[in-house]
Formats: sequence, structure tokens, C-alpha cells
Amino acid sequence: MDKEKVIEVRNLAASFGDTVVLSDVSFSAYKGEVTIILGSSGSGKSTLLKHILGLYETEKGEIRIFGEDALGLDEDQQLHMYMRMGVFYQNGALLNSMTVGENVALPLKQHTSLPDDLVDDIVNIKLGLVNLEYAINKFPSELSGGMLKRAALARAIALDPPILFFDEPGAGLDPISLESLDRLIIDLKEQLGMSIVMVTHEVPSILRIANRIIYLDKGSVVFEGTLKEALKCDVESVRQFFSLLDDVDKAKQA
Ligand SMILES: Nc1ncnc2c1ncn2[C@@H]1O[C@H](COP(=O)(O)OP(=O)(O)O)[C@@H](O)[C@H]1O
Ligand SMILES: [Mg+2]
Repeated sequence: MDKEKVIEVRNLAASFGDTVVLSDVSFSAYKGEVTIILGSSGSGKSTLLKHILGLYETEKGEIRIFGEDALGLDEDQQLHMYMRMGVFYQNGALLNSMTVGENVALPLKQHTSLPDDLVDDIVNIKLGLVNLEYAINKFPSELSGGMLKRAALARAIALDPPILFFDEPGAGLDPISLESLDRLIIDLKEQLGMSIVMVTHEVPSILRIANRIIYLDKGSVVFEGTLKEALKCDVESVRQFFSLLDDVDKAKQA
């Protein structure tokens, strides 16, 4: 049986003014998988995510999400679709004037009419998932980097989105905190069946969590395939990226 596509991008182009960032991008992401988007800095990874998330006007190409044409939706349909897509931003972006619990409750209050006691229950469950129940009444300024990321993750999953997007979630994290974030991501995939699309450069993370790799270069996708295929592939930029691993091996043997 064919795997179910949760995202399908076809021939997407994107520019800022006269600067073409994406010229012809096509790839698919599948249900229950972690898809990693790779590419050097400035290659358009964040721009691609923002087009998928409907944050930019898309003039050329096709974006299908859950099998639906995401570019042909009216406002209500759009709102409904984007409520099913959780986003975890680069620097967490919690509101500093609110406690962790209030931050996680925010999407529930904005997008649902659930009674307060039910919202409280959901907030507790989500904070439990990221092992942060004890910080419910703390303010973001009182949290460590790793805790901030986990709180932001709890907020991103508040509405139980079937797809979750991450843009460089590991930036600024030490290796131990990064590993615990990875473990949470694997739990979300395996226990809640979420599909995950992530931009990251962290090779150890990629080896732990990736099912599928998309490599962006010069405005288009130069590699699309499984992690195993990526590790064996002879596309120069992809080979170079993963050759960092050979350096680790060499250093061990030296
Ligand atoms: N809002 C914007 N306005 C103008 N140019 C932008 C904007 N966002 C990104 N760019 C440019 O588009 C290119 C791709 O950026 P980005 O998608 O952020 O790359 P990446 O996430 O891969 O590092 C860069 O050259 C960047 O300077
Ligand atoms: Mg970026």
C-alpha cells in the first residue's frame, strides 16, 4: 500500500522582489514520518516552510496538505487547515509576560471555546508530555534553554496538530538537551502518530530522528529519499554534509 502523503509540494517558486529564492521545489512528506529539510544557510528552508504554512502568498506551484489544495482555500477553510498544523519556531517565542501554563493555554483559548477547567486539564497533559508539569507557574525568564524549548513544544501541540513543523529547534541547545528534545519528537511520532517536518543542521539529531531527507540547493531539491539513501547518496552537497560523520570516525581512530 502506498504511504499517505501529508504534504506534497510541486514546482513551487518563491521570490522576494527580484531575488529568486526557490525556483522549482517538489517533494512529499509522509504520515507518521520525520522529514528533515537540509540546505546551506540562505538556501530558502525557512521560506519554504513559511509557504507551506500559508504565511506567504504563493504565486507559482502547488501545495497539497492532507491531500487538499492548500492554495485554493477560502478563509474559513484556511483557518481550519492551519489549526491542524503546529509550529515550533527557531527561538521558542513564548510570551514573557505569561506563565508557562498560560502560554500553553493561549492557542486553546484563541481557537476553541472549551471551558476553563478543560483547558487546564489539557495544559497539564501537554506539559506532562514534555516533562514540565512542575514549571506550570513559572515565567519564561525563569527557565533554562532546554526547558524553554520543551515549553514551546507543549504550546505547539496544544491543539493536537497531526503535522508539526520545526525550524531549527536545536539552535543554542547543548547536546544533552538536544537529545532529550529528540526523544520527545520520537515520542510524538510514535505515540501520537504525528507527522513532523523539520529544518535542522544537527547531524546527531538527524541520525536519531529522520525518516526522510530533502536537500535544497540553488532553489530546488537536489536529493529526496530515506535517511539510509541520503547516507549513501553521491550528490555532492549531500555527500559533503554527511561527510562530517567521517570526521568523527577519523578523530576517534586518531
Ligand atoms: N522576508 C524577507 N525579505 C527579503 N528577503 C528574504 C526574506 N526572508 C528571507 N529572505 C532571503 O531569502 C533567502 C532565503 O532565506 P531563508 O529562507 O531564511 O533561508 P534559510 O532558512 O535556508 O537559511 C536569503 O537570501 C534571505 O536573505
Ligand atoms: Mg532558516
